[in-house]
Amino acid sequence: MAGHVAIITGGAQGIGLACVRRFIKDGFRVVVADSDERAAKNSVDAIISEVPAAASRLVAVHCDVSEKLSVHNLIAETLASFGEIDVLINNAGIALKGGLLDLKLADFDRVMDVNLRGAFLVSQAVAKHMVARVQDSDDRSGLTNPQFSIINISSVSAQVAMANYLAYSVSKSGLNQLTRNMAVELAPQGIRVNSIGPGSISTDMLSQTIGSADSASIAARTPLGRAGQPSEIAGVAAFLAGPDASYITGECLYVDGGRLSLNYNMPIPDEG
Ligand code: NAI
Repeated sequence: MAGHVAIITGGAQGIGLACVRRFIKDGFRVVVADSDERAAKNSVDAIISEVPAAASRLVAVHCDVSEKLSVHNLIAETLASFGEIDVLINNAGIALKGGLLDLKLADFDRVMDVNLRGAFLVSQAVAKHMVARVQDSDDRSGLTNPQFSIINISSVSAQVAMANYLAYSVSKSGLNQLTRNMAVELAPQGIRVNSIGPGSISTDMLSQTIGSADSASIAARTPLGRAGQPSEIAGVAAFLAGPDASYITGECLYVDGGRLSLNYNMPIPDEG
């Protein structure tokens, strides 16, 4: 995949930034698309100061994924910088607190706008580019040499309800269904679409949602007994984008330290 181009939304920090670092290490050219332009530029500068050779393979682009014009600009800037798009990681996401009885409508709308509408908007624009490239190539089915992949960063919350994060859970369930629909629609062109469902991953979002890094409660709900690291999600994204995942599409891979397998009614037995 060296030389291929990946757009990573929400790439300025957390899981997105770990994906940026991993894809740069793997030889990709990478666009860091984030609504926090300053943070995106700072992250790009930090990577270039560590790996000067990455300077020609890395750009920061301001993009609010929920805004159609902003997404249009992202695609235009990516093509101006690198000329093509091979991989998209829809990672930008927000979590706003509130359940059925107290969630403000504006907060419901904002979470949907970023987590679901944003993934739809960027995917639609990128998929049009990918389909056009397949149709322009000798292999019009795209199946002989598949290289295009879209990866949505979902959550275990797509499967389990978190009463005080209603909009977030619903948005991630929607994202999983968007993944399946896109996978089926784009399969004839050889474009694979999958999602990753992280459990508790050590980022700013985790400390903001559960309070100051509550490691005891994370350990209690996670059989592996710890929060995951952003790099542990980035590694799975690299796998899904690469040739070893060539027959995987429409899937959600949960990377959660066993959290979704845990039966909370049964304590983990002591050894022996
Ligand atoms: P984070 O809050 O550390 O980083 C999110 C990034 O997205 C930030 O750089 C932010 O500026 C950017 N962003 C926010 N709104 C945006 C918009 N409208 N347009 C473009 N960029 C925007 O979050 P974290 O933890 O790295 O999460 C990344 C993804 O992983 C999210 O989709 C989140 O829902 C998902 N996730 C995270 C988990 C965790 O435990 N940290 C667990 C499950 C899923």
